[in-house]
Amino acid sequence: MKKPFGLATGRTMVPIYRTLVKRLKNWPTAEFEKLRSSWLSFNLDEYVGLSETDLCSFKAYMSEHLVQPLGLNPSQVNIPNGRARNLKEESHSYTKRLSQCGGFSFVLLGLGINGHIGFNDPPCGPESSCRVVTLSGATRQQNAFSFGSSSNSVPKQALTLGISEILQADEIHLIVTGIEKADVLDLLLKSSCSRSLPASWLLKHQRVFLWVDQDALSLGLGVEE
Ligand code: GLP
Repeated sequence: MKKPFGLATGRTMVPIYRTLVKRLKNWPTAEFEKLRSSWLSFNLDEYVGLSETDLCSFKAYMSEHLVQPLGLNPSQVNIPNGRARNLKEESHSYTKRLSQCGGFSFVLLGLGINGHIGFNDPPCGPESSCRVVTLSGATRQQNAFSFGSSSNSVPKQALTLGISEILQADEIHLIVTGIEKADVLDLLLKSSCSRSLPASWLLKHQRVFLWVDQDALSLGLGVEE
């Protein structure tokens, strides 16, 4: 069975998905169709309580950036249901479905300004698994851009896969871009594993790749202008 891949949302992923769609559409038709028909992905997280049609949901994000452009069936792109009546049950069933598919082949991650991955805000340890979380002020502020720049409009809770499901992936790709990530990237490059910096648990993984742009790395390795 082909293992699913893990997908993140957020601004970092927008140009990546745009480029991916462009490249895939240039593939020979038969190969593109093969990939499209076998596509299976699980997103990391979703806000709690947004309506099905809310354009701020990660479901809407995925529909705009991948499902529609690639003509995928929405059932191939799994996203936690933030409208479930029983969120605890939804968390259990989401992680169970992922594990029944064999866990992630690879997972794409963005990085929060406070070091979160998925919606695993600090403090957070490697034992964390899929659950409902209360979002920190920093994370709501970071994501206010999709909610009319008002952090008060950002939902207070979310469903997220934990660090444990992420670390079970065969391969992890952390993508960090933009000057606003320079401080946290610098911290991450100097850090050992710590609950105060959730992304630091990636150091425990054997196949983790870090992709950065020059802005994000501007403090990290003494890159010159
Ligand atoms: C968000 C999402 C993550 C995302 C990260 C970075 O809160 N939960 O999946 O990767 O934070 O977001 P951005 O790319 O917009 O900086």
